[in-house]
Amino acid sequence: MTDQVTAIVLAAGAGTRMRSSRAKVLHEIAGRSMIEHALVAVAGAGVHTTIAVVGHDRDQVTAAVTAHDPAILLAVQEQQNGTGHAVHVALQALDAPPAGTVVVTYGDVPLLSSQTLSELLVDHRAAARTVTILTAEVADPTGYGRIVRDHDGAVTAIREHRDATEAERAIHEINSGILVVDGEFLAHAVARLETDNSQGELYLTDIVGRAVAEGRPVGAHVLEDVWQTEGVNDRAQLARLGRELNRRLTRHWMAEGVTIVDPETTWIDSAVTLAADVTLLPGTQLLGATTVATGATIGPDTTLRNVEVGEDATIVRTHGSDAVVGAGATVGPFAYLRPGAELGAGGKIGTFVEVKNSSIGAGAKVPHLTYVGDADIGEGANVGAGTIFANYDGVTKNRSTIGRHARTSSNNTFVAPVTVGDGAFTGAGATIREDVPPGALAVSAGAQRNIGGWVADRRPGSASDQAARDALADAAQAEAEPNLEATGE
Ligand code: UD1
Ligand code: CA
Repeated sequence: MTDQVTAIVLAAGAGTRMRSSRAKVLHEIAGRSMIEHALVAVAGAGVHTTIAVVGHDRDQVTAAVTAHDPAILLAVQEQQNGTGHAVHVALQALDAPPAGTVVVTYGDVPLLSSQTLSELLVDHRAAARTVTILTAEVADPTGYGRIVRDHDGAVTAIREHRDATEAERAIHEINSGILVVDGEFLAHAVARLETDNSQGELYLTDIVGRAVAEGRPVGAHVLEDVWQTEGVNDRAQLARLGRELNRRLTRHWMAEGVTIVDPETTWIDSAVTLAADVTLLPGTQLLGATTVATGATIGPDTTLRNVEVGEDATIVRTHGSDAVVGAGATVGPFAYLRPGAELGAGGKIGTFVEVKNSSIGAGAKVPHLTYVGDADIGEGANVGAGTIFANYDGVTKNRSTIGRHARTSSNNTFVAPVTVGDGAFTGAGATIREDVPPGALAVSAGAQRNIGGWVADRRPGSASDQAARDALADAAQAEAEPNLEATGE
């Protein structure tokens, strides 16, 4: 049976070396702030209650924590009097001392995984200890607290670098800062910490010496994967851990069946999901909540943020955000998908095409040199090269519609709001300011003329003709039976 687990995430420190107006723990790797990485890790380890300790930049940090999960408790540490003081402040956010087990972790150690925390908890329970510290053997232990052991190898204390003797400084086993501790002992021990150290702070690490003195079982869980214990203090460390996390993410997705031609130049955010048999070509960045279905190929040199990519779609040299690309559709090279761009199955957005807040139906094509803004393009339609949807009159934005199987010619301007009917055509260079009925050809050399029935005469039997006939038949029926239409029969 597992007991109640409370997590305390320390994030009150100043982060001076980041030289940033943004709080240190809000700097991101793999599309997530460092504090969110910490919160995701504790949540995945079966924690019931989480307390974040905030101090410096507390408004920014509080907002980020609450946005991530409003159930997380917040404790404000006005002055950073040490990790022991931070935990003391955290415990005051609870109504009573925590009954079960407490995990203490940091908001600036972004590679720590849920799995490691779970293993730490399992080890702690199996050995029935009061305190279990997560430690690691590192090449350069400078600055870290050292794990002091007796002749039998039992942990007796953690000594901070500044307070350590020469002999203790020679120890390479370091305190990661992450530990698991019995809740009642923690409350008891933290209330009795003293500031008799070189920094005059309350050291959380001193609870180890107290536990040993009281004859309580204390031990270390040594982590081989040193990366998971590394904290970030400056931007060089942020980049270094960001690259390592990306290496882990690309390796994970390759193991899941994704082909990544060049993992070094492929960047994948933590929240991205990829299906098996996706192919990522060099220079691809998949960001935010992007999802890619099986068989799709992305890249080279493509950046997608919050884009949903359907099965077997192909996206080449494209920049996209908050967009949807349907199954079997093709995009690029050199396309720009802005928020609200939706391309239907089998559709095409071609070269030097920008699409914003528009739907392009199944099988519809916008192949060349075009701006599509605030438009709905019906299935099977084809938009000619060099088309502009003039959606903005300088005051308001308006939508335009291109009907199913319509074929608009090169160098057209659609002055919104305007509707081109199903199966209609337009002439080259036309500026379309007025609606075009289904099946008409619109030309606009001089005044626009709508040549009714042009498609039926000149393109008989085509899909456009059929679409126009359907639309005209519907319209005729609606006119003949207005009452039935109105009552919905
Ligand atoms: C701490 C440990 C040290 C360990 C190292 C690992 C203590 C006394 N020392 O040292 O043994 O090897 O971490 O990185 O615990 N924080 C607060 N409030 C405070 C002080 C710190 O919230 O008053 C937070 C910081 O924001 C940071 C974390 O606690 O996330 C660690 O603080 P830091 O000052 O980096 O601790 P170190 O002195 O490096
Ligand atoms: Ca530190």
